[in-house]
Amino acid sequence: MTDPALPTVLVVACALVDIDGRVLIAQRPQGKALAGLWEFPGGKVEPGERPEAALIRELDEELGIQVTEACLAPFVFASHAYDSFHLLMPLYLCRRWSGVVTQREHAALAWVKPSKLADYPMPPADAPLVAWLRDLL
Ligand code: CDP
Repeated sequence: MTDPALPTVLVVACALVDIDGRVLIAQRPQGKALAGLWEFPGGKVEPGERPEAALIRELDEELGIQVTEACLAPFVFASHAYDSFHLLMPLYLCRRWSGVVTQREHAALAWVKPSKLADYPMPPADAPLVAWLRDLL
């Protein structure tokens, strides 16, 4: 059972889907927790920040793209108890953005068909989202 004393960390993540139905995943860089694993881009929600605003900010910072709230489709929640915190992570879906996806903070980026996502090792919070995406897309 999860330790109720653990702090909850809210991270927002996004499945960007291109016109061929491929999903963007990004490899966490050396020096960060879970380095080398492939994640859905996003990041921590700052105190007082709305989740959608955090996702718009993170996608701009990490990938150099601009999305609007109208482009963010409903999400599924991931939840995982790491050793020192409990992660709560909604995953949004986004098919429209402006700007060109650019690797700014990750070790690598990959556009992957939903059926192939399971080939990429992911953090334990992200991995269960793959089946949801495979069914949805
Ligand atoms: O960039 P920053 O260190 O602020 O946040 P982050 O490293 O993106 O996310 C904080 C923590 O959430 C990470 O250390 C991971 O443990 C976890 N995380 C995750 O499990 N899956 C993601 N897609 C993003 C973060």
